[in-house]
Amino acid sequence: MSHARSSKPMRAEAGHPLKGTVTVPGDKSISHRALIFGLLAVGETRVTGLLEGEDVLRTADAARALGATVKHLGPGEWRVNGMGVGTLLEPANTLDFGNAGTGSRLMMGVIGGHPIRATFDGDASLRKRPMGRILDPLRKMGVEVISAAEGNRLPLTIRGARETIPITYETPVASAQIKSAVLFCGLNAPGETTVIENEASRDHTEKMLAFFGADVRVAPHGPHGRTITLKGQPSLAPRPIIVPADPSSAAFPIVAALITPGSEIVVKSVMMNPLRTGLLITLKEMGADIVELDRREEGGETVADLRIRHSALNGVNVPASRAPSMIDEYPVLAVAAAFATGETRMNGLQELRVKESDRLAAVADGLAVNGVEHSIIGDDLIVSGHGRPAPGGGVVETHMDHRIAMSFLVMGLASTKPVGVDDVTFIATSFPDFLPLMARLGGRIV
Ligand code: S3P
Repeated sequence: MSHARSSKPMRAEAGHPLKGTVTVPGDKSISHRALIFGLLAVGETRVTGLLEGEDVLRTADAARALGATVKHLGPGEWRVNGMGVGTLLEPANTLDFGNAGTGSRLMMGVIGGHPIRATFDGDASLRKRPMGRILDPLRKMGVEVISAAEGNRLPLTIRGARETIPITYETPVASAQIKSAVLFCGLNAPGETTVIENEASRDHTEKMLAFFGADVRVAPHGPHGRTITLKGQPSLAPRPIIVPADPSSAAFPIVAALITPGSEIVVKSVMMNPLRTGLLITLKEMGADIVELDRREEGGETVADLRIRHSALNGVNVPASRAPSMIDEYPVLAVAAAFATGETRMNGLQELRVKESDRLAAVADGLAVNGVEHSIIGDDLIVSGHGRPAPGGGVVETHMDHRIAMSFLVMGLASTKPVGVDDVTFIATSFPDFLPLMARLGGRIV
């Protein structure tokens, strides 16, 4: 398990308008997958723009432990020499994924398809998160769960399938992590593995499977869902990967500029994959002045430079069907809603309870200590704003959750009184240069 580290409190206070042009780091989802695809392809995979956050570095360590050579050449520049599907080595030591749900769950699928034994562990936050949602389909595929902490939690040890069984699996919740674990496991199965999802989740795994040469078919399923079918035992050929800027990280400077009077910023090269842009759609519905300056294709994804100006926002109703396309953005949307006029209702947030923290509770507590009117009804969060700055003045408990820390620091940049957070250290898991980047824009975080 990760070593405990000392927490570092910080405080954000209102000051200048935010001005300038910034680029946020590479997408976390694609960065984890870039390393995994590098591991599963034979030969050298070149990666440009990799997110060098702690979560992704744990996945790099795991790829090494499974036999890949992973080299860091310069900022964002990585090379992976992979082992190929079916030939991974048994790791000698426990794989420690730190705070990373995505890294650990995707690697369970990868390892599950190989006849090797591995132990997974993580920090206190990751040890609380449910892994049964991954182990259930993997068991059907022939994976043996040798041991697990109570409730199918980490630390856990699995032995991958001797002969992986191809299955058809309908995911019980819209989750790209579950989908990806099943598909990665199915890579080493003789036959077709199918995942059915009733709401489409982010599609990076299936796009990258096709890019690396696997035979993968995607078909619509019902009004919002998809069926993904993968033919097992392909030989994956290395392809160069350019990682676009993470829309989930861009969300923080975007909301900061929207709520801070006089602000005008540009966030460059943000990935505009339609399964990731639910926040932008919602903010525009609220009246946000966000303009796409230059929409273009880069490395297989659409990206755009976004110009954001301070805006008067109005409360909106966010449908539950939009949740998969903005699942990580609700904490910072709640902050935007606190500055809007009227009620913003965010429907169907049950999955927020099993993120790096119970985000529904953490957001509600953070709003409460900062004087923002809100309520939770079932799985819905309702935030009432009055079209003026949130009162602020509270210190927010972040519960080892990077997005809770960043969201409430953003609130403090425009609230009447400063907003404190108890610990900023976990910001390094996804957005290591968040603090200097916000400072460059003129944000006061001390
Ligand atoms: C991710 C999927 C989402 C998201 C996470 C990254 C991925 O989780 O919250 O930050 O890269 O597949 P779920 O699949 O559990 O919704």
